[in-house]
Amino acid sequence: MNYGDDFQRLSKYNREKLGGRSLDWNRKPDQYKTYPPELEKFELEKPDRTGGDPLYSLLQQRRSERNFKETTISKRKLSQVLWAAQGITLSTDYHQFRTAPSAGGLFPIETYCVINNVKDLNPGVYHYQVPIHALVLLKEGSFGLDLARAALGQKMLRDASFNLVWSAMIDRSKWKYEQRAYRYIYLDAGHIAQNTALAAVSCGLGSCQVGAFFDHEIDEIIGVDGENEFAIYMSAVGEPR
Ligand SMILES: Cc1cc2nc3c(=O)[nH]c(=O)nc-3n(C[C@H](O)[C@H](O)[C@H](O)COP(=O)(O)O)c2cc1C
Repeated sequence: MNYGDDFQRLSKYNREKLGGRSLDWNRKPDQYKTYPPELEKFELEKPDRTGGDPLYSLLQQRRSERNFKETTISKRKLSQVLWAAQGITLSTDYHQFRTAPSAGGLFPIETYCVINNVKDLNPGVYHYQVPIHALVLLKEGSFGLDLARAALGQKMLRDASFNLVWSAMIDRSKWKYEQRAYRYIYLDAGHIAQNTALAAVSCGLGSCQVGAFFDHEIDEIIGVDGENEFAIYMSAVGEPR
């Protein structure tokens, strides 16, 4: 069974099939994921939106880092990397835009943060609340080793100061793009991960992007159902050894 080949073939746009569809605005999925208000929230420092190393120097320095020192990094650096990944850069009356492009401006990707070693934040699984630039604690505890096991035993996820896990809420994109949405979520995630990698370098950190993992196990760690929302990509971030 060549699912990948079928996917590529069946999700192609062609002139005969495209057109004539109208969007049902009453059924547009919510832009943001929310959790019950009783879950603990942690505000993050306002990110620096103007400084940092010049772009070309960051591009030159970026490398996949897989060996991390087990040092505690500051919450400020975490804040900076999260904002670079998915922070808001423009708010209009109708829409909020982010650091990374997204097909149709639908932003189907959610960011979870598995914290191992960050000052003033206990280890645990958190969700990044984009509109308020804050983290919501989903479950407290050390999940680095679980994450590493779920990623085919890649130890860097245990040693990293924090890991970002990106999931797709597929209906947000399907609402407009139907099956083509499956192409776009991966493109969106790629943009987000590159922003993460460059911001990490700018903070004196390193990162490695991770696509090899047992999907169900990662879904379970971040608490998503694997159907409407499923993990698609991760980044381990820490101080290079
Ligand atoms: C989609 C994708 C998935 C990847 N998955 C992994 C992974 O699971 N484990 C890993 O060690 N590196 C992973 N990498 C990192 C690549 O191995 C790395 O980017 C490549 O060797 C080039 O090296 P560089 O990133 O240092 O330029 C992944 C990279 C991409 C873009």
